Amino acid sequence: MADTALQRQFPSAEALPRTAFAQLPTRVEPLKSLGAELNLQDLWVKRDDQSGTLYGGNKVRKLEFLLGEALAEGHDEVWTVGAIGSHHVLATCIYARQQGLEPGALHFPQPVTEHVLDNLRALSTTQPDLTLVSNRAQIPVEVLRTRIREWLARHPEVYYIPAGGSSATGALGYVNAAMELAEQIENGEVPEPDTIFVAAGTCGTLAGLTLGLKMAGLSTHVVGVRVVDRLIANKPLVMRLAGKMATRLEACGVDSAPSVSKDDFDLIHDYFGRDYGEPTPEGQRAIRLADQTEGLTLEPTYTGKTMAALIGEREDRGLRDKTVLYWHTLSGVDLSERIAAADVAADLPDEYQQFFDGKDGT
Ligand SMILES: Cc1ncc(COP(=O)(O)O)c(C=O)c1O
Repeated sequence: MADTALQRQFPSAEALPRTAFAQLPTRVEPLKSLGAELNLQDLWVKRDDQSGTLYGGNKVRKLEFLLGEALAEGHDEVWTVGAIGSHHVLATCIYARQQGLEPGALHFPQPVTEHVLDNLRALSTTQPDLTLVSNRAQIPVEVLRTRIREWLARHPEVYYIPAGGSSATGALGYVNAAMELAEQIENGEVPEPDTIFVAAGTCGTLAGLTLGLKMAGLSTHVVGVRVVDRLIANKPLVMRLAGKMATRLEACGVDSAPSVSKDDFDLIHDYFGRDYGEPTPEGQRAIRLADQTEGLTLEPTYTGKTMAALIGEREDRGLRDKTVLYWHTLSGVDLSERIAAADVAADLPDEYQQFFDGKDGT
């Protein structure tokens, strides 16, 4: 039997390289107490926080396809890019190391918080090869892209994973996720959702889900909640990414993957606040409410803002008697043992010590 929902529904997708390490399917659960609090009759969560044993969240599904491709192409080094506290960089390095690949990252600074330092500590345990591409936290995207291109031109042997793992390969993880949800609906584990709320950063999750739901013949509408700058998360980008995935799927024999149009999904901007990573009052309230009613852990940058959007939009969108699903994208894996075992002085380059000394160079 084929081992992914995507392959079960589209057997020719078996030709896509993939290395299996995610804990799938992730559960769908009702959020009865939160639903009652919000006057929503049928609220559910998709537990992608439990998608992996070493690290969870939405990166794991993408990395199955990305690292699978790296291995199939014979690479032994994998690099990616992100801010020093990036969940994506951490997840990539953890699973690359597990798969026998040498991990590395091009890093740029961000304001240093205790959470960022913990992610750096956890990252150091994968003994990654790290390069700080700038000493400034604010670096124009174009300058960053040029520096990355220059760096990659000097290292053709490396398999490169773009920010957030949101390439046409990585986002296939969320086409697979949509197929998984379709099977759970078919099995009677959850009613077909009218609306899904999901965080939108580099938009691979949103693009993959939108394309996958359409391929599965579901009429569920996905609402992406923008949590990064508009330059990074926008509708044309989601449609382009979905188009590239459709081309890949067709190239491996999947019959006429549909095209994604601007009406197939929403991308909403009202919950971003002032800046990436800056908490909003509604986001903080949503975090408290999810914790108090369901013991569900959210954070301020992605998932708090997404839950705030679900709360804020429920009246205008008439969701009271609809089936609503919140897609939980944050890792639920406890990293405390990994963090306690970290030796940052030994395993991070000298220039990173400034972050721990309180001189963050930003
Ligand atoms: C917890 C969490 N949720 C959501 C996202 C956004 O996913 P995507 O980049 O696919 O839009 C990220 C990206 O880093 C994340 O860390």
